[in-house]
Amino acid sequence: MDKRTLRHEMLRILDKDRVLSDDLDVMYYSYDSSFLTKIEKLYPDVVVLPRSTEEVQKIMRFAYEHGIPVTPRGAGTGETGGSVALTGGIVLDLSTWDEIVEVDVANMQVIVRPGVIHADLNDYLARYNLFFPPDPGSSKMCTIGGMVANNASGLRAVKYGCTEQYVLGLEVVLPDGEVITTGGMKSKAIKNVSGLNLTKLMVGSEGVLGVITKIRLRCWPKPKARGIVMAVFPALDDAPATVLDVYQAGILPSGIEILDQSAIRAVNQFKPEIALPDAEAILLFEVDGNPASVEWEGTTIAEICRRRATQVEWATDPQRMASLWEGRSVTATAAARVRPDGSRVFAGEDISVPLSRVAETLRAIRGLGQKYGIPVVNYGHIGDGNVHTAPVIDPENQAEVEKVKQLVHDIHLLAIELEGSTTGEHGVGAVRRGYAELEHGQAVGIMRAIKNTLDPKGIMNPGKLF
Ligand code: LAC
Ligand code: ZN
Repeated sequence: MDKRTLRHEMLRILDKDRVLSDDLDVMYYSYDSSFLTKIEKLYPDVVVLPRSTEEVQKIMRFAYEHGIPVTPRGAGTGETGGSVALTGGIVLDLSTWDEIVEVDVANMQVIVRPGVIHADLNDYLARYNLFFPPDPGSSKMCTIGGMVANNASGLRAVKYGCTEQYVLGLEVVLPDGEVITTGGMKSKAIKNVSGLNLTKLMVGSEGVLGVITKIRLRCWPKPKARGIVMAVFPALDDAPATVLDVYQAGILPSGIEILDQSAIRAVNQFKPEIALPDAEAILLFEVDGNPASVEWEGTTIAEICRRRATQVEWATDPQRMASLWEGRSVTATAAARVRPDGSRVFAGEDISVPLSRVAETLRAIRGLGQKYGIPVVNYGHIGDGNVHTAPVIDPENQAEVEKVKQLVHDIHLLAIELEGSTTGEHGVGAVRRGYAELEHGQAVGIMRAIKNTLDPKGIMNPGKLF
């Protein structure tokens, strides 16, 4: 269907200001944070901004009937091209549909529409002494719908797990416009083992099975206290060994982050006043809970760190905690500046490996960087073996672009070889679908069968996952 007709048809469903088709308006939708869209912009034919289930249904029914691709999108903060249209068609921008429908304090849950921003939700829940624990690091931008679609995790997954653990139920508009409710039609139960778990199927399905239009989330009591331990290590292997010792001591921190030497140097170069000690690795432990246990856990972790670390600090003062954490929070930005002519590439950036193989992984990635002559900055969520790698290249230089593609491919293969996964948190999107068979073997056939049953015409976010 040509663009003008498509626009005209969408205008029968939505008012004018919620149908975008001018080049300038849709440009914003032609990219996300991925390397893929850094080198190639991918334009949809039309962008629509629905704000009700009925509107989504009408759009889907139309798209289904005419075989038009539909790509759901939240804030577009993704790193895998997951929310860009590979083959034109309709982008469903769900970010303006940002209602908090209901907070049910007695039942510790909240019902939201997909566009609610993560930080706004937690500000709101704080009034009720509740919180939604997963924190992908892009809290002020990312949407809950995007988090659910990608099963986002981030900084606190060590203790609190990923988004999936909090999704009690969903309303989903299927590709043909049908609406289903998962987790029980009228259920407000926290525990529910009735039926096949369609909620779990939808969470992390990256928009290939349907459009998530309502989300029922479990909330947790907001912890009263928090503290941070920073420890500096002269040898890389000391970092995972210390993490293991902390677990063995019966402590489950809310976050454990690592900066290796490449990240430490990048941070210091970017913002010298942060002045991280030059070392092979720095660990940051965050603990939260009640004040007495936080104090005990923090001091015990500090004690454990002193067995191997050259420098250890335990802080509960909010200002001091913020400055200890600053190195981690600027790492992504700092990585981009290690070369004046370079920029950071989001590719191969979030492999996940067993904790016992983190040091080996970091060393191997360092070796691959040297092999291809590309600086790579490493950091990540060591507590669950999720490593962030940031290759820095000149994207205008074609030879470097080709080299980094090879590097990233090797990083993905390394993850599988080390009994890990090509993606611990950012998802498959358009950029990692080539690894589906290698990671899942025959199970990919079952994934395809599920996809074909729900989406026989293949209109939902085509070209993603497998
Ligand atoms: C982080 C995001 C990029 O942890 O996953 O910084
Ligand atoms: Zn992360």
